[in-house]
Amino acid sequence: MKKFENLKNLDKSIVLIIGGNSGIGKGVAELFLKKDDSFVVITGRNYQKGIEVQNELSEISDRIEFVQLDVKQSDNVKEVVKYVTEKYGKLDICCNCAGIEHRFASMIELSEEEFDEIISVNLKGVWLCMKYQIKQMMRQKQGGAIINISSVSGQKSTPNGAVYSSSKHGVEGLTKTAANEYARFGIRINNVTPGLVKTPMAHRVLGISEDSTDELCNKYIPSGRMASPEEVANAVYWLSSQDASYIIGHSLIVDGGLSLGR
Ligand SMILES: NC(=O)c1ccc[n+]([C@@H]2O[C@H](COP(=O)([O-])OP(=O)(O)OC[C@H]3O[C@@H](n4cnc5c(N)ncnc54)[C@H](OP(=O)(O)O)[C@@H]3O)[C@@H](O)[C@H]2O)c1
Repeated sequence: MKKFENLKNLDKSIVLIIGGNSGIGKGVAELFLKKDDSFVVITGRNYQKGIEVQNELSEISDRIEFVQLDVKQSDNVKEVVKYVTEKYGKLDICCNCAGIEHRFASMIELSEEEFDEIISVNLKGVWLCMKYQIKQMMRQKQGGAIINISSVSGQKSTPNGAVYSSSKHGVEGLTKTAANEYARFGIRINNVTPGLVKTPMAHRVLGISEDSTDELCNKYIPSGRMASPEEVANAVYWLSSQDASYIIGHSLIVDGGLSLGR
């Protein structure tokens, strides 16, 4: 892997973004690079896309590196946390953003394979990532911040999205429990809970082009539009900062009022 040797004992934050080569995760990486002098590691399964995003974000700062990772592979998750901490010396902030959607279908139409796939990425993947991230932060004895990306579907029913919704309800539960268990070690764990965000996933789910989304959303979202990845990233950045030092196990809804109903 490229560049940045001899990085031990850095006083800058080391940020690991799981699912950082697209959408919200890419927005989080971009914001950290713009706002401060953190070193940012982004991950994803798609190597080519990861390198392209690494190159694109290098225009902002060269403190960015892509590492390939599939959250369904526990050894892979463990290795990536080890790789990052051995190379950069520590792990301060993690954002667990990797997620997938399933086809728009009622729960009795979905197959066992679809159930297993969604749960293994969206729920077990978050658990695996937190497991190794928390272990590392405990070894460091300097605390840390973990922000998981849930969804308003994790707080309410989502017709034709039952398994996705269940996986995100699970993330809400994991986050609260992990936050409770590890607060005493100075590790703050919170959720950011988006509504609809302009990303490749949202466009796949809605089945419409980027240009037509605001017109559709005007009907359902009080603010009349989808969020940008940057608007979600702002919440992640704030929760990771000292300004949120007493916030633990919270789900910060960033949805333009979607969950208020219309
Ligand atoms: N967009 C929305 O409206 C919205 C709303 C609420 C919540 N969310 C949540 O926000 C998160 C990010 O979604 P997004 O909208 O930014 O979607 P996206 O653009 O499709 O990005 C998804 C990210 O997850 C990664 N990923 C998927 N499966 C993975 C796996 N098995 N292992 C490792 N990485 C994997 C993808 O990288 P690779 O493809 O390279 O693996 C990509 O980086 C998800 O958890 C999603 O549920 C999104």
